[in-house]
Amino acid sequence: MTINTDKTENVTDAINTRITTREFLDKPVPTDMLKQIFETARRTPSGGNLQPWNVHVLTGAPLDNFRGEVIGKLMQGGTEKDTFPPYPQPLWEPLRSWRYKMGEDMYKLLGIPKDDKPARMRQIGKNFMFFGAPVGILITGDKRLEVPQHFDIGIYLQTLMLLAREQGLHTAPQGSWRAFPDTVKKHTNHPDEQHVLVGMSMGYANPDAPVNDLVSDRAELSELVKFYP
Ligand SMILES: Cc1cc2nc3c(=O)[nH]c(=O)nc-3n(C[C@H](O)[C@H](O)[C@H](O)COP(=O)(O)O)c2cc1C
Repeated sequence: MTINTDKTENVTDAINTRITTREFLDKPVPTDMLKQIFETARRTPSGGNLQPWNVHVLTGAPLDNFRGEVIGKLMQGGTEKDTFPPYPQPLWEPLRSWRYKMGEDMYKLLGIPKDDKPARMRQIGKNFMFFGAPVGILITGDKRLEVPQHFDIGIYLQTLMLLAREQGLHTAPQGSWRAFPDTVKKHTNHPDEQHVLVGMSMGYANPDAPVNDLVSDRAELSELVKFYP
């Protein structure tokens, strides 16, 4: 299947055509379009209407400086302390198999064999280039937030992803940015009481990139949803 880059007409189409896009075109997103997305996303609901997200939208030189510094650090083997582990450890079934299958399907599409660790690391490293996207989004939040506020931030992400589809844009939500909290702080200048929670790439998908053909599996409806009666 090839990625659908049309503007979507309705929410169902936006949901069905959204995929995590891991290669973007070097084509800027018009500023007005970008501002409209974030303006509309203000309507995202949150428990108690706390609106616990702090959003940093990087384009142009600030984006290039930020990702340049992260990549430089990575190339020198530099690491920072993750704000949160990406998954519970150890991951249990069937969650473990879902995660494994997604990774294997992606590397298969890219023709990267299991034992080619350097090629797999290079692919993972593309996270830290925002997959070549012209817009890099970092979301920070107060360290005192509880689990329910993290749901709110997830809802905010989905709002952005669907609004992006309406504009013919694609996105990649990225927990990977939790691995570089110090560099995020340096480039966003967020207050000390906050830390990075998640990031997102946004832009025009490269329709010719094989990685963008990945349509990840889902559990059957009956496995996770019960209707009563
Ligand atoms: C909160 C969140 C964080 C994610 N972090 C990453 C990431 O750091 N890197 C990445 O390549 N994909 C990341 N993903 C994408 C997931 O792997 C992807 O959503 C999942 O495999 C389903 O595929 P789809 O989005 O293409 O439907 C993330 C998704 C979510 C919702």
